[in-house]
Amino acid sequence: MEEALQQLKGDALADLDVLKNADDIEQFRIKYFGRKSPFSGLMRELGKVAKDDRPRLGQLANSIKKDLQDLFDEKRRSLVAAHSGDGDGVDLSLPGRTQANGKLHPVTQIMEEVCGIFEGLGFTVAEGPDIETDFYNFEALNIPPHHPARDMHDTFYVDDSILLRTHTSPMQARVMETQEPPLKVIAPGKVYRCDSDITHTPMFHQVEGFLVDKKVSFADLKGVLSVFIAKMFDDSIPIRFRPSFFPFTEPSAEVDIGCVMCGSKGCRVCKQTGWLEILGAGMIDPEVFKKVNYDPDVYSGFAFGLGIERIAMLKYGINDIRLYYENDLRFLRQF
Ligand code: DAH
Repeated sequence: MEEALQQLKGDALADLDVLKNADDIEQFRIKYFGRKSPFSGLMRELGKVAKDDRPRLGQLANSIKKDLQDLFDEKRRSLVAAHSGDGDGVDLSLPGRTQANGKLHPVTQIMEEVCGIFEGLGFTVAEGPDIETDFYNFEALNIPPHHPARDMHDTFYVDDSILLRTHTSPMQARVMETQEPPLKVIAPGKVYRCDSDITHTPMFHQVEGFLVDKKVSFADLKGVLSVFIAKMFDDSIPIRFRPSFFPFTEPSAEVDIGCVMCGSKGCRVCKQTGWLEILGAGMIDPEVFKKVNYDPDVYSGFAFGLGIERIAMLKYGINDIRLYYENDLRFLRQF
């Protein structure tokens, strides 16, 4: 009996040594640990040996079986590790690992949509620095030092003459300074203001647009903006131009659309007016042309500026601008 056990152990170790793949492993398992394994046969034999020898032989059989099981497990693990990736020894029943698809941030999506509409109308894109000089951000736009309009901008200053741009309008002067009319430009980008509540974040996005040529009129401005709003929202949305003031445009207007939340009936979002402001615009002030050496008697032009986060909020019915910047995937996944 003892001899038979040792013989079995020797055979099993030799077999174990030459296992190569998943098939071999399964064969071995059936042969040595299955119901018809030689161990089972020997265990039955155990009943027939002398009573005194039984405990010792039983223990021997169990320890051989246990050692073999350990060696077998180890062998199986090392074979699976060595073969993982080539389909052999791999658990094909495991669920696949899918690639997580990235998506564009809703602000980027709206930015691309807005720029796409203006590009379709023949505008070209210009980009400029976020860190700007006082000259381009204010003075070139007819906002001299101590002008009250500066107060509205909540500016982050780097030093006396350097700041984070508070709007994309400085791109008007930057482009006009280096190019001659006719010009048809949009300037998208980040802008910064020291302000934070449910409708303001310290960084947000604007798109500036301007067109300069001979004989440009307010009617051209209305035409371009009406097409933009119809494409961005919907053909039937009401639009109105409301007189306003900006130092760099004269005359100036703010453009409202019929409230998309209540269908112009009046609600909390539109403060019962039925209208929502979506952008500022106007005819470029002759003072701005003078700063860049354009002759205001020859050229005229219009400009407009719109806030991307605001447009996205109106389009998607979002009531808190800060949601864009909290990186909560439950919010972002909806776009
Ligand atoms: N720069 C203005 C702002 O940030 C928006 C603006 C208003 C831009 C009128 C323009 C304009 O070009 O004509 O509040």
